[in-house]
Amino acid sequence: MAVGIFDSGLGGLTVLDAVEKRLPEVPFVYFGDNAHAPYGVRTADDIFNLTCAATERLWDAGCDLVILACNTASAAALRRMQESWIPPGKRVLGVFVPLIEALTERQWGDNSPPREVTVKHVALFATPATVRSRAFQRELAFRAVGVDVEAQACGGVVDAIEDGDMILAEALVRSHVDALRRKMPEPDAAVLGCTHYPLMQSVFEDALGPQVKVFSQANLVAESLADYLARRPEMIGQGTERLFLTTGDPRKVSDRATQFLRRQMTFTSA
Ligand code: DGL
Repeated sequence: MAVGIFDSGLGGLTVLDAVEKRLPEVPFVYFGDNAHAPYGVRTADDIFNLTCAATERLWDAGCDLVILACNTASAAALRRMQESWIPPGKRVLGVFVPLIEALTERQWGDNSPPREVTVKHVALFATPATVRSRAFQRELAFRAVGVDVEAQACGGVVDAIEDGDMILAEALVRSHVDALRRKMPEPDAAVLGCTHYPLMQSVFEDALGPQVKVFSQANLVAESLADYLARRPEMIGQGTERLFLTTGDPRKVSDRATQFLRRQMTFTSA
């Protein structure tokens, strides 16, 4: 057994990298659904069906616990999976809650009523499906009051990253930051609500300026997973096999992944 990490494509590698560093003794199995990326322009039903298929493949690879390192799947499919689909003995967790807990200065499991927090004007950058779901605002409202959220659906950024076209990705990020600023001129925090976006984090930071605190998920998810596994050690098995699976072209995906993580990554067909 191992722990599964799922994303529509390459973005979840930002989370994989952080969890591998935080938990070097845990074998992780990565599944990138590159053949079907981007998810952000798909319907909720489509995202649900693709995410369930990928999760089943991770169960077959010996994972009892799967992390959806994809905000789009976490926003559009996770609740439905948890309510109606996940069998006993298996767990699927998303990446939204650790981020919102950090933003609202909460420890894990602090279920006290919503309260005032330091941040007041939050810019959310995410895929069109994540923005449409309003999952971020819903989770935030459980924990904080008086926070104004302006969401920017960043069309095209995931496609450009998946294609390895970082020049286009940078131009798109800058134009999405400009568009956000027209709606919210002075955010005090920005959330990179898509696991692909940390690959462009320096561009977001540069375009937003030093007065905006940028929250990105990888390290927050790694801490939260470490905490979860300390409480639920039975969710890690004895297996030692690390695997990188893709529904796309393994050679192309391996090349891009190696370029992004700056270490050799070898994917095989899912
Ligand atoms: N990395 C996914 C996310 O966090 C990507 C989305 C996509 O495939 O559009 O939302």
